[in-house]
Formats: sequence, C-alpha cells, structure tokens
Amino acid sequence: MTVSTHQFSTKLLTWYHRQDRSLPWRHDPPDPYQVWISEIMLQQTTFSTVQNRFSAFIAVFPTITALAKASQTEVLRHWAGLGYYARARNLHYCAQVIVDKHHGVLPQSIPELRALPGIGAYTAAAIAAIAYDVTSVATDSNVKRIYARLVRNLLPIQDNNPDLHTFFLASQHGHSPREHLQAWLDFGEILCRSRHPKCADCPVQKLCLGRDIAVQLPIKPTKKPRRQLYAYAYWLENADGAVWLRRRPPRGLLAGMLEVPTSHWQENAPSHTEGIPQLRWQATNQQIQHRFTHIDLTVHILRARGFNDTDLAQYSSESAWYRLNSHAELGLPTLMKKIVGAMLSAK
Ligand code: ADE
Repeated sequence: MTVSTHQFSTKLLTWYHRQDRSLPWRHDPPDPYQVWISEIMLQQTTFSTVQNRFSAFIAVFPTITALAKASQTEVLRHWAGLGYYARARNLHYCAQVIVDKHHGVLPQSIPELRALPGIGAYTAAAIAAIAYDVTSVATDSNVKRIYARLVRNLLPIQDNNPDLHTFFLASQHGHSPREHLQAWLDFGEILCRSRHPKCADCPVQKLCLGRDIAVQLPIKPTKKPRRQLYAYAYWLENADGAVWLRRRPPRGLLAGMLEVPTSHWQENAPSHTEGIPQLRWQATNQQIQHRFTHIDLTVHILRARGFNDTDLAQYSSESAWYRLNSHAELGLPTLMKKIVGAMLSAK
C-alpha cells in the first residue's frame, strides 16, 4: 500500500494555514539570519527553551555583523544554559566567514550553505527552504517520525532514507518549499508528536498506515549506554569569600566555558589533577549528577578556604576570583550552575 503524496500534502498544508502559528523567528519576509540561528538552537535544545531564549539572543546580536564582531566569550555567555557549546563557537566563527566571504549575507545555495562551519545537511536544506523558499529536502527528526508512522515503517529509523527523500520532494510539488517544510515541522511538534501523538485531531489520519501503533513508531536504533564518569570540583575561596573560576580548555566537553575547576573526568574514582593548588582539600557532602548525551557525570565537591595567593595565572591562563552571590549573568553552563547552587545553598 502506498500513501498519496498529493492527498497528504493538500491536507497537511490546509491544516498548516489554519494553524497560522506564530514563532519568534518566523517573519514575513523571513530574516535569513534569524532562520539560521533558530535552526542551530533547535538542533539540541528543547523547543520551549528555544522559544524562551531566542529573542534575547537576537536582541544582543541582531545581525550577522554584530555576531561576527562580538568576542567568543561574549557569545558563549549568551549561549549559557543552551548546552552543546560547540554550536555557539561554530556560530560565531561562521558569522565571521559569512562577513569575509559572503558580504555578511547568508548564501542561498545548498552547497554554499553546507560549506559553512557548523551547517550540516539538514540545516543547509532548512535554511534554503525557510529563508529563501528554495526546493530542498530537509528531514529532521520530526519529518522522519511523521514518515515512519505514515508508511508504517517497522524497521529502525535510518539517517538517510531514499524513500523518504522521494516522498518529501513529491509532496513539495506545487507548494512553496518554505510553507511545505514549516507544515511538516509544525505538524510533528503539535500533532504527530513523539510521545503523545494526537491522532484524534490529525488531518491525515485516514491516510496513515501506522495510526494504530503510532506511539511505537518510529522504531529507535539501539542506543549505546552512557559512560559513567567521576570528577572532583575544587571550590576554593579566598580570604574575602570570593571563589576561583577558570575557563575550560578550547577542546572537549564544555570547551571555552567558565568552570568551577574540575579534575579529569574519568571512569574510576577521581584523582587529583595538575593545575590545582596543593592545599588541604576537604570533602563536602555535596555530590552533583549531570547528564550529557553520552556521559553520566558524578562530581564530588572538595573545598578549601582562605587561599590568599593572588597569582592564579600559574594554575590556568584564564582564572579569576568571583563573588558568587549571583551567578546568572556570568554565563555558567548548567553543570557549573548546579555546583555553585549547591555550595551557595549549603553555606
Ligand atoms: N523545528 C526545527 N526547525 C523549526 C522551524 N523552523 N519551525 C518550527 N519547528 C522547527
């Protein structure tokens, strides 16, 4: 049995126009810069967080040129809490490349978009369609889920599915690529949702071959278990009660972000690391759990007080004492906010 692309897209787009959904990055005409930022933010951050944070980011960096001119530290500070900080570093670098090579305007062609730092196949296709109304095949997890249900695909979901590619392009025929893609995305977020699909309200329910087993689809590929890692965090206070923070190295997890200094993150009990002052560190009863995509991290917080060495530079190049009664505006990543929060509330 096959699903008629024409019937599907007619019903889908009728539903989409009725919804007339308003989103902070959707303008008429669209601003390609905002389309790009929204797509990068939406890659690994929840939809509701992006909705809350998007406009503040645009207010600070309203144009590609403004983003390109900012310092990396400033960009990371305004990305704090959104996670996956490599995205922010790439975004910043990409803005500089767009200024240098494309006169500050995002290119329209998929190959040129794809060549930019941090822009993968989906994002290039999504920008081309949404910002420039260019025919393209943009298959994110929403699109893959909708299709798997529609055709009742009982095999584990694939990154590249030629049948989906063909179906998506055929269903775009006769429609604006922008509206067509936005319709798929909205439909995946509002009705054909991952956990609680609203099949009773679905405009394509009669065409859907997987409607009786929608919650079970798509079949997920088996995931590798997360690694459990352990680390120490060193909570060091000087005689004035200010706390030592430093910037993490430019590679690896939380690269370039501000941290309460931590030891190596390792699979067995943590061990002290170079770059930490030799002091009488005391155990606290504060233990923090934090989950990254591939890692479960347990951090034991150690504490030392009254350290009066002002020359922190010998322990790390970008180190300073911070008064930590409010950490919100420092741009700490979530793991570090948890550590600071635990230590401030234990005081
Ligand atoms: N999900 C990913 N990109 C989106 C967009 N531009 N609009 C709505 N949902 C999305």
